[in-house]
Amino acid sequence: MNFQLTEEQIMVRDTIRDFARTEIKPGVIERDEKAEFPKEVIKKLGELGFMGMQTPEQYGGSGLDTVSYTIALEEIARVDASTAVILSVNNSLFPNAILKFGTEYLKEKYLPQVGGLGKLGAYSLSEPQSGSDAKAMLTTATKDGDSYILNGTKNWVTNGISSDYVVVFAKTDKNAGHRGISAFVVEKGWAGFSTGKKEDKLGIRGSDTSELIFENCRVPAENLIGEEGQGFKIALATLDAGRIGIAAQALGIAQGALEKAIQYANEREQFNKKIGEFQGVSFKLADMATRVDAARLLVYRAAWMKDAGMNLGEKASMAKMFASDTAMYVTTEAVQIHGGYGYIREFEVERMMRDAKITQIYEGTNEIQRLVISRHLLSN
Ligand code: CAA
Repeated sequence: MNFQLTEEQIMVRDTIRDFARTEIKPGVIERDEKAEFPKEVIKKLGELGFMGMQTPEQYGGSGLDTVSYTIALEEIARVDASTAVILSVNNSLFPNAILKFGTEYLKEKYLPQVGGLGKLGAYSLSEPQSGSDAKAMLTTATKDGDSYILNGTKNWVTNGISSDYVVVFAKTDKNAGHRGISAFVVEKGWAGFSTGKKEDKLGIRGSDTSELIFENCRVPAENLIGEEGQGFKIALATLDAGRIGIAAQALGIAQGALEKAIQYANEREQFNKKIGEFQGVSFKLADMATRVDAARLLVYRAAWMKDAGMNLGEKASMAKMFASDTAMYVTTEAVQIHGGYGYIREFEVERMMRDAKITQIYEGTNEIQRLVISRHLLSN
């Protein structure tokens, strides 16, 4: 077993670590306060090849392996979880649905655009009444000649406001259960497609999350991904890989908070000692670091499994669940170690704690991850 990173993975890590320190970190507190999308940062990340990391070079991507992608997201989330989730959706949920199931036409038309040519992708599955029970969606896509007419309201869409293209799931047959769901690429600007309310969130405030509204929106049939009725499988298969990105984001948040806690424990003095000299603090740090390391092993293994073409649903769910629970635990302890200073914006761990919470919820709540894992265990 080899735990060494390759030269390419180290190069990706060093490049993005440097970029995160010099370009992403400076505005992070302000973007969180103003709920401001990091437009310039995303543009530069596109120029550097970080918007189509795993997309093959023939479709304008960088053709990197999943471990490199995971490391890049981790490094970004270490300083800014909002930028990490924007990238996660654009690098994974949007392109993977097209790459794995779409026609050559869709690949050539959309992948280079979101892979560095300045456009942004989103993925829209959930609706106000259907979150965990994704197949209970109500949005419809009715065939009309060589188009489909979309009607319905989607919500919780990451990049909902800033995206140019969205992978949208809708029912083409209301009576066929999950086999009546189909997937489409829909472009912003098409008549009948509008963005609804931008959500005012607890964390990841630099990313935008919104509703999407379809009112008789005509989508050309050539924008159907895969076959009619294949949409639910496309959604779940795409989420299997997407969850590695959320796991990496959670890992990065945890790593960032751990570093802040160590730094503070080495600086802050009480009772004439550095607080890190008290076991009450140093043992906390030991537990935090151990959990971060365990999360990293699970996340990198899931990434490695994807590259090896293995069935990764169960292991991606384990990585996502454990890394996000670790992020919540580590950030909460980091705030505690900072005492009162942990509760104010300037010291950043309170933002990390707010950002961590969503990783236990989106791309499948951790209860859904437990469902996926336990079903796998019991079916073997
Ligand atoms: N890949 C491909 N197909 C799969 C699959 C997978 N991982 N898991 C199940 N399927 C197939 C099954 O084989 C079955 O197909 P057949 O009937 O043809 O055999 C079909 O899907 C239905 O499976 P189930 O009966 O198991 O479906 P279920 O509804 O009981 O359970 C679920 C599925 C695991 C609960 C699923 O609905 C789920 O993951 N829900 C959570 C949804 C989610 O993660 N939402 C997040 C939205 S994205 C987001 O967060 C926004 C963002 O921008 C970040």
